[in-house]
Amino acid sequence: MTNTAPVSARRDLSDAPLLVAARGGMPSRTPVWFMRQAGRSLPEYRKVREGNAMLESCLTPDLAFEITMQPVRRHGVDAAILYSDIVVPLYAAGVGVDIVPGTGPVVAHPVRTKADVDALPDLDAEQVAPVAETIRRLTAALGGTPLIGFAGAPFTLASYMIEGGPSKNHERTKALMHSEPDVWHALLAKLAGITSEFLRVQVAAGVDAVQQFDSWAGALSERDYREYVLPHSARVFESVADAGVPRIHFGVGTGELLVAMRDAGADVVGVDWRIPLDEAVRRLTAARPDGPAPVVQGNLDPALLFADWPVLEREVRRIVAEGKAAGGHIFNLGHGVLPETDPAVVTRVTELVHSLS
Ligand code: CP3
Repeated sequence: MTNTAPVSARRDLSDAPLLVAARGGMPSRTPVWFMRQAGRSLPEYRKVREGNAMLESCLTPDLAFEITMQPVRRHGVDAAILYSDIVVPLYAAGVGVDIVPGTGPVVAHPVRTKADVDALPDLDAEQVAPVAETIRRLTAALGGTPLIGFAGAPFTLASYMIEGGPSKNHERTKALMHSEPDVWHALLAKLAGITSEFLRVQVAAGVDAVQQFDSWAGALSERDYREYVLPHSARVFESVADAGVPRIHFGVGTGELLVAMRDAGADVVGVDWRIPLDEAVRRLTAARPDGPAPVVQGNLDPALLFADWPVLEREVRRIVAEGKAAGGHIFNLGHGVLPETDPAVVTRVTELVHSLS
């Protein structure tokens, strides 16, 4: 009975390429998966989603199971990533948030004051019980393929909460951070608590690795990141440390923050395409010359999936070659699959990466 599986039921996937690479070992092949591999680029996703609201789909095990499996079946990738969203734990806890198609998360009552922060709920594990059920079904069905769980990091969630929706400049967020540091830290502590609880539920249900998406952290200087954000993201990673699953940390435009993002407690540092992968490895190595060689994930520009195949093939080969400088390399994009991407190209890139190792 999958739904009564004890915590100790995590599969032994010690040979899975993704987990070997994440631990700095020598995998049988370069593992590859794609951020946003589940979603609008797949016709089978659009079909399943017809008539089903985004956030409710994430909390419906039949739908979330099927959508998570789709890219694994189609592309033969080395990991599944749970179909969820960074705002799912907020929604489940009762925060007024929705995902507006073509826009992104929209928050009904933006958070601007200490009273707003105090009014935010905590997350109770029961509120995300359907996510745990989805994970148990997935780990039973995935065979030797690892399942990655994830959550939004406190800063990126805070930006949506404060701005009320997607933001280019994060001006209200940064203004609050600098003008009212007590309110800021109270909000980030609250969000770190929600994120930690959500990840603990996922780990207990059997995910094999976790990723914190701090998508918008690249908007910050390293100094501000270390003072206002890092301690909260570190607390999130610390909350799942006892499980021993690899912890991945990703943000966009974070070339200047890679060392700080590892310092938050990451085993694997996600890299976007604005910095060559071997340069990312150099920066991480220079900061800890006596430590183990860094493990990185990335970093193909998602727009290159639209380029002519010879161009794309050259870029994929370059990235695989640059990844050799690392202690371990998980091939991925530098950000998520774009909705208009031809899924056949994603399959072809997966096959190419596998053929190169
Ligand atoms: O990677 C995967 O395949 C797992 C699925 C996943 C989703 N959201 C599903 C989703 C993941 C990992 C996320 C994370 C997420 N959500 C992030 C961090 C990663 C990143 O892209 O930087 C962020 C910032 C969000 C917030 C969010 N949710 C945005 C900006 C959007 C797009 C809104 C739009 O319509 O343009 C969403 C909605 C969303 N989350 C979709 C999917 C498949 C598309 C909406 C839909 O299918 O109706």
